[in-house]
Amino acid sequence: MHILDATYLISSPNYTLCPPPDKPEYAFIGRSNVGKSSLINMLCHKQQLAKTSGAPGKTQMINHFMVESVKVPATAKSKLKGEQWYLVDLPGYGFAKVSQTQRKSWTKMIEDYLRKRTNLGMVFILIDSRHAPQKVDLDFVNQLGEWDVPFSLVFTKTDKETQSVVAKNVQLFLQAMRETWQFLPRHFMTSAVKKTGRDKILSFLDECNADFFQSGNSVT
Ligand code: GTP
Ligand code: MG
Repeated sequence: MHILDATYLISSPNYTLCPPPDKPEYAFIGRSNVGKSSLINMLCHKQQLAKTSGAPGKTQMINHFMVESVKVPATAKSKLKGEQWYLVDLPGYGFAKVSQTQRKSWTKMIEDYLRKRTNLGMVFILIDSRHAPQKVDLDFVNQLGEWDVPFSLVFTKTDKETQSVVAKNVQLFLQAMRETWQFLPRHFMTSAVKKTGRDKILSFLDECNADFFQSGNSVT
């Protein structure tokens, strides 16, 4: 996949105010500060697209970005028409410094969005590859399972640890999932700094787009 353009569209406080669900959509979620916004920027090759911050809790609403891509880069002679789709940056979970009220409103906003957004093709759950499996991530994964929301895993910040530590943490996470899951989801390893994992995620999104467009665009 080759990205032609990526632009910020809108920030919505709930799913009913999101753009019309007429394009395939992929959302990024995970603990506060895990690198959701950085990953979106890395995938789109655009550093300032989604706002990033060293302080957790930067992203607060449902943020839509419109992306236009082609399967192969256009040559001077062939001007291919791009496919349009949405990337969504979501606020992080597990941020200690928020009130009960804020936590409840986050849960409601996210649950409604994940369960009711008809064009949502895949949720990417980001997990910090530096750490052994965390309960909050496993709980979230299991929650998506209960809601029947399709998801993939992305292990982030792989540049910050040695390959063996990263590999061990990934295996431990998958092993923990095996206790309750019969099939394991697809997983990716990324570094926003080194741009690792970009090609694999983009070619997966190409497949997801093909599914969406081949299904006759049948979302309501
Ligand atoms: P919230 O919106 O607050 O939930 O955070 P987020 O998950 O969007 O994280 P964000 O992309 O803002 O990144 C948090 C911090 O981690 C920033 O200082 C980033 O520069 C850093 N960061 C993100 N991804 C990577 C990575 O792959 N490698 C390294 N070394 N740092 C990263
Ligand atoms: Mg963010």
